[in-house]
Amino acid sequence: MIHAHVTAWFIALILFFVALSLNKKGKTKGVKVIQMILRVLYLLIIATGVGLLLSVYKIDVWYILKAVVGIWLIGLFEMILSRVINKRRTSTFWIQFIVAWILVLYLGFVKLPMSILHP
Ligand code: HEM
Repeated sequence: MIHAHVTAWFIALILFFVALSLNKKGKTKGVKVIQMILRVLYLLIIATGVGLLLSVYKIDVWYILKAVVGIWLIGLFEMILSRVINKRRTSTFWIQFIVAWILVLYLGFVKLPMSILHP
């Protein structure tokens, strides 16, 4: 489950930047397709995240925080991409994006016990 979770957000991250670069090149059709794939990946990220939560014996505040930041990050993926497509300002969202990534990586890899790094 943890591998599926990490794989899902990793692919989403790559596709997100692919979509941004296609958008810059004016390839709107490609961007739309990737946006659709991304939305499926968001669901997979949430589903695997919930799956991981269900495997936890006692869900403490760090797990709640991890889930909240994860969902916040998915919201930011979606917001940034759609605002970039519509040529609207994204600076405040990019700041949130960086903060949320630092938090999610800290919580996921450092604070919480399950890991792909030390199986
Ligand atoms: C883009 C969104 C997300 C990212 C980037 C992300 C990232 C991560 C990372 C880096 C880990 C640790 C993997 C490891 O140690 O090998 C992790 C684990 C986990 N994630 Fe997510 N996550 C996201 C969304 C979510 C969501 C939405 C939920 C819950 C609904 C969730 C729940 C969990 C749980 C329960 C774990 C296991 C924590 C542990 O015990 O170590 N994640 N995630």
